[in-house]
Amino acid sequence: MLKFDFYNPTRIVFGKDRLKELNNLIAADAKVLVLYGGGSVKKYGTLDKVRQALGERKIVEFGGIEPNPRYSTLMRAVEVVRREAVDFLLAVGGGSVMDGTKFITLAAAYDGNAEDLLRCGFKPVPVTSARPIGTVVTLPATGSEMNSGGVISHQGGKYPVFSPLAFPRFSILDPTLTYSLPPTQVANGVIDTFIHTVEQYVTVPAEGRFQDRTAEGILRTLIEIGRTTIDHPTDFDARANLMWCATNALNGLIGAGVPQDWTTHMIGHELTAMFGIDHAKTLAILQPAVWTVRKEQKRAKLLQYAERVWDLSTGEETGRIDRAIANTRAFFEGLGVPTRLGDYGVSADKLDDLVAALEQHGMTRLGETGEVTLEVSRAILKEAL
Ligand code: NZQ
Ligand code: ZN
Repeated sequence: MLKFDFYNPTRIVFGKDRLKELNNLIAADAKVLVLYGGGSVKKYGTLDKVRQALGERKIVEFGGIEPNPRYSTLMRAVEVVRREAVDFLLAVGGGSVMDGTKFITLAAAYDGNAEDLLRCGFKPVPVTSARPIGTVVTLPATGSEMNSGGVISHQGGKYPVFSPLAFPRFSILDPTLTYSLPPTQVANGVIDTFIHTVEQYVTVPAEGRFQDRTAEGILRTLIEIGRTTIDHPTDFDARANLMWCATNALNGLIGAGVPQDWTTHMIGHELTAMFGIDHAKTLAILQPAVWTVRKEQKRAKLLQYAERVWDLSTGEETGRIDRAIANTRAFFEGLGVPTRLGDYGVSADKLDDLVAALEQHGMTRLGETGEVTLEVSRAILKEAL
């Protein structure tokens, strides 16, 4: 096992009807900025419940944070934070609203040009104090509710932003608030969670037995409940399991002390930035291709994945790996998500642009060992056509 620090200060408030407890979670005299997306929280009543739970507190609202939240939109909210002198930021929505809120609190506390914060990569941004945030999750997918990162879109790129100050103080996870999600967003949530897990698990062996067994538990749970939670959106237990898997797939637990490989996510970000394909759908396209191209480097963990996640333990080894990759693709397709670039109208003549974008964003040495060069990324994209 590799050395690690594990730090996670976010309080999780899980279960039905917990929204009213907002009153106990935010100081009584706090002025609260409530942030939301394109309107689903208005339409389905979550925003009303939030207002009610905040009682007599002074509230300011900022709506319109779009999927893949844009820097320019978020900077308008930064002005509101400063002008209104708010004390607490409450994100009500999915990953985009949560990520956007993290960026807003960091940018509001930063004296320089906030674009600087997009250029820190996976290192913490240079901000030393920021207003606290909380979240009310309406889409289980990104894990943003219990981690310290966000992804911000700006001028054709998607930029990670990290800070220990971005951990939410609390996140309310009420599965019933997600019942209104359209099937395609639920499928996105299952797939995003699945890929967060495998990018911290299907790497190279590191004797992280707890991390591996936990990752396998998340993957098997997703396979069990994935289709059910799409077909039966109000099946509380299926949705509750998706939600808790999503949170634990990216809160630092399964990735502590083991190698990580974010190739699929980094190439996926370019697909979203260039073609507007949903984040999770880019991952469903790329993951089978990453494994096909890097089968030899990942051989030991792919065999473990085949055996422990798909019960494939007999027959010749390469055949087992191929079946595990095929099963993974079939699982995603079975959730209604196509897994080829062509299914989204992206053809071979776009590969040069995509590789150039990876280069421009410094994504030239990806993978658990840094051996995914631009040429390997090109091979992955070609395999995904
Ligand atoms: O905007 P509204 O009207 O609220 O509609 C949203 C949006 O159109 C809708 N939605 C959310 N909750 C709903 C609902 N519709 C009906 N009922 C509900 N309860 O769903 C649509 C998509 O929302 P979005 O927040 O964009 O989706 P998701 O949670 O998948 O977040 C994607 C973003 O997260 C980033 C991605 O890059 C992308 O920008 N990620 C963040 C990560 C992190 N912070 O750790 C890691 C991830 O890998 C990911 O990169
Ligand atoms: Zn993701």
